[in-house]
Amino acid sequence: MTGASESRLPGNVDQNNIEQSPFALLMNLTNTLTQFFLGAVAFSAIYFVNIFAGSSSLKLHVYLCVTGYIILMSQAILSLNPYTSWTKNLKREDKKIIHWVMQITGSILAIAGSIIRIIDVQPNFRTAHGIVGLVAMICTFFSLVSGLVNLISMQFRNNINLTKIVHSAMGSLAISTAYICLCLGFHNLYRNVFGDKNANLSIVLAAFALIGTLTSASTNIFRRIFS
Ligand code: HEM
Repeated sequence: MTGASESRLPGNVDQNNIEQSPFALLMNLTNTLTQFFLGAVAFSAIYFVNIFAGSSSLKLHVYLCVTGYIILMSQAILSLNPYTSWTKNLKREDKKIIHWVMQITGSILAIAGSIIRIIDVQPNFRTAHGIVGLVAMICTFFSLVSGLVNLISMQFRNNINLTKIVHSAMGSLAISTAYICLCLGFHNLYRNVFGDKNANLSIVLAAFALIGTLTSASTNIFRRIFS
């Protein structure tokens, strides 16, 4: 690529900076590792319910919550990061559409997965996993609402930084509580079936996946506050 006009790629990413600056290199590395951790965590949870002789509601619960939170909502956060490989060359407008479609689909699947389990468990909310799962579900609902407010406010006002920051913060809170809930799932039933080493490994993988996903969200928040 030559010439000043060609150095700006779709999605406002400067290709020269991405290749050369140490910060960009670090962000690329963080994103690549995060993709690996997300895949490993999703596989670990789904493999567990596939071989564990649990009820169909437990299987559906894990399929829906993992697809919603770990696959769709985490990737929806990463999709807006300029250093994420699979969206790097997309236009900003296309990234936004991908982001809200994945967020809405992921939130619906995650909330459905939680409700399916809540209906099947009696009495409710007696375990740390159950209580944190309920908090994650409530935060997911508010994150969804703040996303819709953000989408609507884009049509009316020029300065939409505050609604964007509130939405990023709500989304980060929802995804953080969901990962804590997942770790509690690995800590209890999963540990009893797969043993300490596998449970600890899955918890560490989930912690790294969350840190990588939040790094992406927080760099966007900081860019908005200080730009
Ligand atoms: C992000 C992922 C997850 C979320 C948000 C989530 C959320 C929830 C919620 C809201 C409940 C209902 C609690 C109640 O009514 O008392 C629940 C129950 C349950 N979940 Fe999950 N869950 C997730 C992943 C998992 C995984 C991976 C497993 C298995 C390893 C699992 C196993 C269970 C079990 C056994 C119950 C019933 C007993 C209990 O409440 O602890 N969950 N979960």
